Amino acid sequence: MPQVFSPTANTLSKVSLVLVVFLVAGGLCALDLIHKSPYVRYTGVPRSQPVPFSHKHHTNMGIDCRYCHTSVEESHFANVPGTHVCMNCHNQLFTQADLLAPVRESWETGIPIKWVRVNDLPDHVQFNHAIHVNKGIGCTTCHGPVGEMPLMWRHEPLFMKWCLECHREPERFIRPREEVFNPHYEPPRDQLTLGRQLVEEYQVPVSDHRLTDCWICHR
Ligand code: HEC
Ligand code: HEC
Ligand code: HEC
Ligand code: HEC
Ligand code: HEC
Repeated sequence: MPQVFSPTANTLSKVSLVLVVFLVAGGLCALDLIHKSPYVRYTGVPRSQPVPFSHKHHTNMGIDCRYCHTSVEESHFANVPGTHVCMNCHNQLFTQADLLAPVRESWETGIPIKWVRVNDLPDHVQFNHAIHVNKGIGCTTCHGPVGEMPLMWRHEPLFMKWCLECHREPERFIRPREEVFNPHYEPPRDQLTLGRQLVEEYQVPVSDHRLTDCWICHR
C-alpha cells in the first residue's frame, strides 16, 4: 500500500506538537512576567493625582509624615489626610492658585479628594503599619525616597519574596526608632552590627520562624 504520509511528515508532526506545547508554556510564562512586570505594577512610575501634591516640597519644609498620615503609628492602616489638613496652610497660602482649585472645591462641597491609590496588596494579604514602624522599619525602606518625590510612585512591586527577604533578615534593614520618619536617612556602612543590636533591643522575633509562617500574612 502506498504511504499517504511519508516518514518525514510523521516526524514533522511530532516536532510541531512539541513546538505547540513549548509555545503554550512560553506564552503562559510571558503572561506571568507581564503580570509581575514593573509596568503593570507601576513600579517607579509617578502617578498623576487630582492635585499634583509634592512630597518633595512638603516634607522638605520639615512637615513630619505623621502631620498628615496620623494613624500610621497606631493602626494597620496609614490614612491619607483629609482636605482640612491641607487647608490648615492653604487657606492662607496660594489661595488663588489653579493647582489648588480641586482642594478648595473639596473644602466647599465637603466631597473628599479622590487620591489615586499607589500601593495596594491583594485582599488575601495582611499588612500592618504600626507593627513595622514601632520596630524601627523606616517609611523609606519600603516606600523609597519619598522626600525626593514630586509625585508619589510605588517603589517596590510588593511581591511576597520581598516581604520574606526582610522577615528572614530584618537586621539588614532595621534603623533606630527615632529615624523611622526621616525621609533622608542613610544606613551606616556597618548596618549589620547596628542591625543585630537593634533586633535584640526591640525584641524582633527572628530566632523562631514566626515571621516566615504563612499564617501571619495570610489568614
Ligand atoms: C502635607 C501632608 C503630607 C505629608 C507631610 C506627608 N504626606 Fe504622604 N501623602 C499625602 C497625600 C495627600 C497623599 C495622597 C496623594 C499621593 O499619593 O501623593 C500621600 C500619599 C502617600 C503615600 C502613598 C499612599 C498610597 O496610595 O499607597 C505614601 C507611601 C506616603 N504618602 C508616605 C509619606 C511619608 C513617608 C511621609 C513623610 C516622610 C509623608 N508621606 C508625608 C500627604 C502627606
Ligand atoms: C504646613 C503647611 C502646608 C500644608 C499642611 C500643606 N501645604 Fe501645600 N504648600 C505649602 C507651602 C509652603 C507650599 C509652597 C512650596 C514651595 O513652593 O516650595 C505649598 C505648595 C503646594 C502646592 C503647589 C505645588 C508645590 O508643591 O509647590 C500644592 C499643589 C499643594 N501645596 C497642595 C497641598 C495639599 C493637597 C495639601 C494637603 C494634603 C497641602 N498642600 C498641605 C504648605 C502646606
Ligand atoms: C514594611 C514596609 C512598610 C513600611 C515600613 C511602611 N509602609 Fe506604608 N505601605 C506598605 C504596604 C505594603 C502598603 C500597601 C498596604 C495594603 O495595600 O494593604 C502601604 C501603604 C501605605 C499607604 C496607603 C494607605 C494604606 O495604609 O494602605 C500610606 C499612606 C503609607 N503606606 C504611608 C506610610 C508611612 C508614612 C510610613 C512610615 C511611617 C510607612 N508607610 C511605612 C509598606 C510599608
Ligand atoms: C524591611 C523589613 C520588612 C519588610 C519589607 C516587611 N516586613 Fe513585615 N515585619 C518586619 C519586622 C521587623 C516585623 C516584626 C515585628 C515584631 O517584632 O513583632 C514584621 C512583622 C510583620 C507582621 C506581624 C507579625 C506578627 O507578629 O503577627 C506582619 C503581618 C507583616 N510583617 C507583614 C508583612 C508583609 C505582608 C510585608 C510585605 C508586603 C512585610 N511585612 C514586609 C519587617 C519587614
Ligand atoms: C511576610 C508576609 C508573607 C508570608 C509570611 C507569606 N506570604 Fe504569601 N504572599 C505575600 C504577599 C505580599 C503576596 C502577594 C504577592 C503579589 O501580589 O505578587 C503573597 C501571595 C501568595 C500567594 C498567591 C500567589 C502569588 O505568588 O501571588 C500564595 C499562594 C501564597 N502567598 C502562599 C504562601 C505560603 C504557602 C506561605 C508560607 C510558606 C506564605 N505565602 C507566606 C506575603 C506573605
